[in-house]
Amino acid sequence: MLLVIAAFIVAFVLLLYMISPLISPKPFKLNGAHVVVTGGSSGIGKSIAMECYRQGAFITLVARDETKLVLAKKEVEKCAINDKQVVLCISVDVSSDYGQVESVIKQAQEKLGPVDMLVNCAGTSIAGNPCLTRPSESLQMEMKPYNIYVTVAYPPDTDTPGFVEENKTKPLETRLISETAAVCQPDQVAKIFVKDTVQGNFNSSVGPDGYMLSALTCGMSPVTSITEGLQQIVTMGLFRTIALFYLCSFDSIVRRCMIQRERAKAADKRE
Ligand SMILES: NC(=O)c1ccc[n+]([C@@H]2O[C@H](COP(=O)([O-])OP(=O)(O)OC[C@H]3O[C@@H](n4cnc5c(N)ncnc54)[C@H](OP(=O)(O)O)[C@@H]3O)[C@@H](O)[C@H]2O)c1
Repeated sequence: MLLVIAAFIVAFVLLLYMISPLISPKPFKLNGAHVVVTGGSSGIGKSIAMECYRQGAFITLVARDETKLVLAKKEVEKCAINDKQVVLCISVDVSSDYGQVESVIKQAQEKLGPVDMLVNCAGTSIAGNPCLTRPSESLQMEMKPYNIYVTVAYPPDTDTPGFVEENKTKPLETRLISETAAVCQPDQVAKIFVKDTVQGNFNSSVGPDGYMLSALTCGMSPVTSITEGLQQIVTMGLFRTIALFYLCSFDSIVRRCMIQRERAKAADKRE
C-alpha cells in the first residue's frame, strides 16, 4: 500500500514538472527591446545594461552624474551586437520630484520607443539602518493582468564602487557576517538577474546562499512555475535547519564583538 502511495506521489510530481513549462510565462526577448536602467552608470546597474546590450537591447542609462554616465555609455557600446543599437543617457535624481522622473522617461520613450523592461538599480546602501519591506508582491499582483512581470533581485555582496563606499560605514559585526560569504563580480550577478528577469521569475538570487534565503523568505510571493513552488515546499524544512546554524554563528560573532568592545572600553578607563 505504502509503495502505491509513494509511486502515486512520484508520478504526480513528475506530471507537474512536465506541465510546468506550459503554464510558465514565455521568455521575454531582449533583442530590439528598450531597457531603462536606473543606476546604470556604475556597478550592478552598469553590468546589467552591458548584459542586455549583448543580447541586442536598446538602453537608456539613468543616473545623476553626467560624466559617469558618458563613461558608462562608452563601456556599454563596446558590447554591441549590431550597428542599430543605441545607448541614451539621462541625468536625473530618481528620488527627486516624480514629475521630473516621469518627464525624462517620456523623453526616453519618444527616442527609443515604449519601455519593455525597467531595471531599478539606483541607490546607495548605508550600513546600520536595518529595514525590511516587501511591497513587490502586491506590485506583481496589480501588474499581472497587464502581462507585466516584476522580478525582485537580491544582490549578494558585489564588488562595485557602491560596495566599497558601504564598507566604510559598516559596523564590525556586519562586516564579519558579510565576510562569511564570498564577494561576487557585477558581471556574474548581472547575467543571473537578466536571465531571471527575461524568464519572468519573481525572485532572483545568486549562489546557494542566495537561493536558500529567497526560498526561506518566499512568504506570499508569487511563483512563475510549478517547479519553483515544489522546490520551495520540499526544501523549506531543510533550509530552516541550515539557517538556524547560520544564526548561531552570527550570534556568536555579535557576542564576540560586544566582549571586544567592552574590554576596549574598560582598558580606556584604566588609562
Ligand atoms: N554591491 C552590493 O554588494 C550590493 C548588495 C546588495 C544591494 N545592493 C544595492 O544595489 C544597488 C546598486 O548597487 P551598486 O553596488 O551597483 O552601487 P553603485 O556602484 O554605487 O551604483 C549606484 C548607481 O545608482 C546611481 N544613483 C544613486 N542614487 C541615485 C539617485 N538618487 N538618482 C539616480 N541615480 C542614482 C549612481 O549614479 P549617480 O551617483 O551618478 O547618481 C550609480 O549609477 C544599490 O541600491 C545597492 O544598495 C548592492
